[in-house]
Amino acid sequence: MEKFVVNGGNKLFGEVTVSGAKNAAVAIIPAVILCDEPCRIENIPNISDVTLIATILQDLGAVVKRVDKSTLDIDPRPINTYVATNDSVRGMRASYYLLGALLGRFHNAKVALPGGCNFGVRPIDQHLKGFALMGAKNELINGAIIESTSDRPLHGAKIYFDTVSVGSTMNIILAAVKAEGQTIIENAAKEPHIVDLANFLNSMGANIRGAGTDVIKIRGVEYLRGITYSIIPDQIEAGTYMAAAAATRGKITVRNITPKHLDSISSKLREMGVEVEEYDEAVVVDATSRPLNRVNIKTMPHPGFPTDCQPQFAALLASVNGTSIINENVWDNRYQYIAELVRMGAKISVEGRLAIIEGGSYLTGAPVKATDLRAGAAMIIAALIAEGTTYISGISYIERGYEDVINKFRALGADIKKIYIPDNDEVATTA
Ligand code: EPU
Repeated sequence: MEKFVVNGGNKLFGEVTVSGAKNAAVAIIPAVILCDEPCRIENIPNISDVTLIATILQDLGAVVKRVDKSTLDIDPRPINTYVATNDSVRGMRASYYLLGALLGRFHNAKVALPGGCNFGVRPIDQHLKGFALMGAKNELINGAIIESTSDRPLHGAKIYFDTVSVGSTMNIILAAVKAEGQTIIENAAKEPHIVDLANFLNSMGANIRGAGTDVIKIRGVEYLRGITYSIIPDQIEAGTYMAAAAATRGKITVRNITPKHLDSISSKLREMGVEVEEYDEAVVVDATSRPLNRVNIKTMPHPGFPTDCQPQFAALLASVNGTSIINENVWDNRYQYIAELVRMGAKISVEGRLAIIEGGSYLTGAPVKATDLRAGAAMIIAALIAEGTTYISGISYIERGYEDVINKFRALGADIKKIYIPDNDEVATTA
């Protein structure tokens, strides 16, 4: 078993460079299925979720070549099946994008039900409703969703989402790009990665207007040409390092970011008394000069405060005197990690969607587990401010979404390493 070991107490100082956005990459890579020529994708994060989705494309028949750590060449032309049901597909959430992409290309799709981080029921009814309105029939057989249009292309439709959903918005964009006529999505999600997917597809020749607003119009086209495209920086990775710097009362520069995408995070940090200075592609976060204040946070779809930074900010707020309240407004059950923070001495109680944090208590190192990806990031932040040593298990969750996380934190001065514990329980270091 592998664990992270963190000796707390070091303030973070220095610079960190953010990688490409995970949640853009896991949609843009399957989007290549729709393209009629090879594509080159740059600024891809080197994380296990990306490796997995690239392998899934390869299993479908695409020729995928890693040019360097952050660049993939993908030739989707040899793909000759719309069936994606192996274990890799079940292993990640974003495999639901195969439904939209395969439907768009083959007018059929058979895709295993997606896995991914577990925070309560994660329905995909809005995705399926959209496909049905575009003419697909869907069935669930042996754990796989089957979409078919009897060999006719999908047709455009007006789709009103009952809930603001990132995945449904992106999936309908994928299905609509080559459909007949115009598709209108109302109550669309507005996350930066939705705009990124639309920019990618438009650069290939798609006709998508309104991405980044709550009404998106897509007129189907017949041909998409191959391009070279660079993925946007990861807003949540940036927010994680910003929260970590504030929690340790340090000062760091976060590079390769789009400051506009971080507005909700930067303004929450400013409200706490952290200085956040914005440059063209960097922010400087300085928590060295004054005591921090308690704040309340309500997570919301973009441009609201992102749910994917909620656990990291809970760890930060545990270090701030006073009572802070978090209202998790996107997911029903994203507080499993709180029990782990409590194990370290945090005083946090959960009432439904609210987490009530009595901040400022003394945290001590403990054996804890990453209950999901962002929960794992919260464990690292709590461990950085705790006295003594914290052992974090479940790190495969963290490695799904954070590139080179150990080296990035070490470069900022954190005392963190990965260890391998063999079955006989002897502790062996892997560097
Ligand atoms: N929802 C429905 N029906 C649907 C789809 C969603 O009721 O058909 C509900 C969900 O249950 C949830 C809300 O709508 O309450 C929002 O879900 P959304 O569809 O936006 O989430 P997602 O697409 O499954 C993506 C990210 C998550 C991130 C959410 C919200 C990917 C691969 N995942 O999930 O990222 O939390 O959007 O921003 O893009 C993470 O990176 O740690 C992560 C979990």
